Parts: sequence; C-alpha cells; structure tokens
Amino acid sequence: MRLRRTTGSTQDDLREWAERGAPHAAVVLADRQTRGRGRQQRFWTDPGEGNLFVSVLLHAEGAKQPAAFSPAVGLGVAQTLEELGSPRVGLKWPNDLEVDGRKIAGLLLEGRWGETPRVLVGLGLNLRRPPSGWAELEGHAVALDELGARVPREVFLRHWLPRLERMWETFREEGLTSFVDEWERRSTLRGQPVRWRGTDGELRSGTGGRLLESGALEVHADVGTIETVHAGDVHLLSHREEPGP
Ligand code: BTN
Repeated sequence: MRLRRTTGSTQDDLREWAERGAPHAAVVLADRQTRGRGRQQRFWTDPGEGNLFVSVLLHAEGAKQPAAFSPAVGLGVAQTLEELGSPRVGLKWPNDLEVDGRKIAGLLLEGRWGETPRVLVGLGLNLRRPPSGWAELEGHAVALDELGARVPREVFLRHWLPRLERMWETFREEGLTSFVDEWERRSTLRGQPVRWRGTDGELRSGTGGRLLESGALEVHADVGTIETVHAGDVHLLSHREEPGP
C-alpha cells in the first residue's frame, strides 16, 4: 500500500505503478487529491479533509469482460458501508452510490488490456462532512458521519478490501451472475422515469430496466423500444442535471 499526503490522482499514481509491475491488489491511498478524476472526463473535487481517495489494482488475466466488474464493486462498497452503520445504500447505474438520493461515493473503473490486462478500481467515498460544508453540492452529496456512522478510513478499508478480493474471484469464475439480483434490489433507477442520451446523441426518455450480464443497463423507451445503455449517464427525470455528451 502506498499512502500519499497530497497527490494529483491516486488513479494516475496507480497506473504509473502498474506500468512498473505493481502486484495484484496494490493500493494507492491519498489524504488529499488536487486533480481527482471522475467518470466522463469530469473532475472529482476534494471538498476538504474527510474524503477517502483510493485506487486498487486487479490483475485481470483470465477474466472475460473485466470492465463489467464495476456493478459488483458498487455492491461491495454498499454492503461494507451498511456493515459499518450506514442506512440502506442505493446503486445508481453505472457507478454512483447514494443514500436517500444523495451521493455518498463514486467509482471509476479503468482498464488496460493486452498481454497484461489490469483493472484499476478508483473509489471516492465521503466519510466525513467537509469542514466548510458541501457548498453547491448541498442536498446532492452526503457523508457517512452525517448518517450517524463515524468510520475511520482504515476501518473501511479493512472491511472492504477483502470483500473486493472475494468478489473479484467470484466474478472471474462466473461473471456478474451471482451479483445481479442484489444489485437490482438496490437499483435507484429500476422502474423509474429516466432520461439518457442514445448512441445517436439524441436525448431519450423512458423507464429504467434491468442490469445485464455485460454491466450495461436496459432501458424501456417511451416510444416502445427496449434499448441497452453501455456508457454515459442515465438520470432520474426528477433530477436537475442534464446527461453529458
Ligand atoms: C465519479 O463519480 O465520477 C467517480 C469518481 C471517482 C473518484 C475516485 S477518488 C480516487 C480515484 N482517483 C481519482 O482520480 N478518481 C478516483
């Protein structure tokens, strides 16, 4: 495990280390991040002390669709948070974790394929409310301590990392199969009115559907078709943000 006081992005540090032969389950942890990366080229802001910034390397030889591991990772984080005192954690496809509609964590899974396939699992988790509050994220973000559970990051990692490892072994053997049911029970989009951007770039609306073995989400368009969303965002119609390009 490598601990950084301040770094640009644990994900970038881990990638560099992976290029130089980092072992399976190598971990980079940081107190603060200055260039944290989120999905879809977005930033992952560091609102002050209290966030957990961690990246974990998985050697992916033998895994059929390593990128599809992402929903299982979200499920493992949700289970760990609840074990440590969080109320019910919902999963918003593809990679957000929410409690009562407020985001508590985000995941960024990146891969490197070829002869030495690797998965880099990045997790940003709000353990403590930022000292100066959430600013414009107020009402949209929440930290574990605001939900009544004060959990040091070492404790979270001690519970989560072995679970991640076990889930990875199961995933390598059988894919997402044994995770799908529980993921769906936690899905915040299932049966809800949603909006997404189709492959042609057009905005569509419909209802959130099931999680597929590939990690993609099925959606039922209002026009009567069933579509598969592989990448991008799917938003609840009641939410303020617009789907990105
Ligand atoms: C998202 O919600 O868009 C995903 C956010 C992922 C942020 C984590 S923080 C640790 C790791 N390092 C990064 O630069 N990003 C991920």
